[in-house]
Amino acid sequence: MRIAAPIEIGPLDADAQQAVRGLAAAAEAHDGVAPLSEQPLLNLGTDAEWITHVVAHTTAGSTIGYVQIDRSGETASAELVVHPEHRRNGRGRVLLRTAERDATLPSRSGEPGQHGKQLRVWAHGDLESARGFARASGLRAVRELLFLTRPTTPTTPTRPLAAETAAPGLPEAPAGYRLRTFRPGADDAAWLRVNARAFATHPEQGRMTLDDLRARQAEPWFDPEGFFLLVPDGADDADPVAFQWTKTEPGQPDDARDGEIYALGVDPEHQGKGLGRLLTDVGLAHLAQAGATRAVLYVEGDNSPALATYERAGFTRAAVHVQYARP
Ligand SMILES: CC(C)(COP(=O)(O)OP(=O)(O)OC[C@H]1O[C@@H](n2cnc3c(N)ncnc32)[C@H](O)[C@@H]1OP(=O)(O)O)[C@@H](O)C(=O)NCCC(=O)NCCS
Repeated sequence: MRIAAPIEIGPLDADAQQAVRGLAAAAEAHDGVAPLSEQPLLNLGTDAEWITHVVAHTTAGSTIGYVQIDRSGETASAELVVHPEHRRNGRGRVLLRTAERDATLPSRSGEPGQHGKQLRVWAHGDLESARGFARASGLRAVRELLFLTRPTTPTTPTRPLAAETAAPGLPEAPAGYRLRTFRPGADDAAWLRVNARAFATHPEQGRMTLDDLRARQAEPWFDPEGFFLLVPDGADDADPVAFQWTKTEPGQPDDARDGEIYALGVDPEHQGKGLGRLLTDVGLAHLAQAGATRAVLYVEGDNSPALATYERAGFTRAAVHVQYARP
């Protein structure tokens, strides 16, 4: 008889969080792609009613599997990983079943954060193991997130450079607008408003809250000098009409440094005027100045306008992340 791995459900203390980070690192070393994305990693220490942490241990107590279920959106989103040395032993199946139960249990209030939701599971990198696992579990691909990259060098500016902006050497803002960098605190509320409008149909980005923004501001990579707002000229208290937020993780080698176009949004009332293209150039110029050798970004597979903008700017597809769900 085989004894199922012990499963624990509940908040993670500091040691348990560290063990999950270690598990994710072992999977990344083996698979070549990180199994947990930024938000679940930020959530490891979160004990909220809309998040469930499930850990699988060996009988000796080592952490060999983890799934996090986030029920804050319209559907419940899960990220799942099993240690490479403990795969094909039914752990994935048990974690998935636990996650599905957690997500789909009938909700009493129907409020966000409650249960009664369809479960969607992310497979980062669309690995063969994830495809086989999804097939065997009766899951189908329902969403694709593309990872696009392009070299930042040589840095040939395609637009006139602004003589005087908050950040010299960046492309010039069009007439009627001014480019300036983000002021943490002072710009938080206005940025959340334009972000919600720009990403109204995006399942995660458009729901970003003040707590989410503050959590990112507390990260070691956060740099307001790489976070640009396009504001109407002469109207200092007006909301920005567009933004370009870049992210460069510290500690990367000088000769292989990724800089991310982390979030680029244009208010729907100002779309169609080339501002997306302008802000892509702003991001690329800034990342090159900041020493990135490769510019990277994530974009929804069905977002044709954004894909066209990025392809025109020289980005190509480097990886795809797939979300699976039960049909
Ligand atoms: C996908 C993953 C979670 C599977 O974990 P696991 O513990 O190995 O899964 P299980 O042992 O429960 O496998 C259940 C079934 O899935 C299928 N499966 C799992 N891995 C597979 C693979 N590499 N190739 C083909 N089929 C596979 C098999 O049908 C398997 O049943 P079987 O072993 O009796 O044939 C694990 O490989 C992993 O952590 N991958 C990286 C992270 C990831 O991609 N997560 C997203 C999952 S959607």
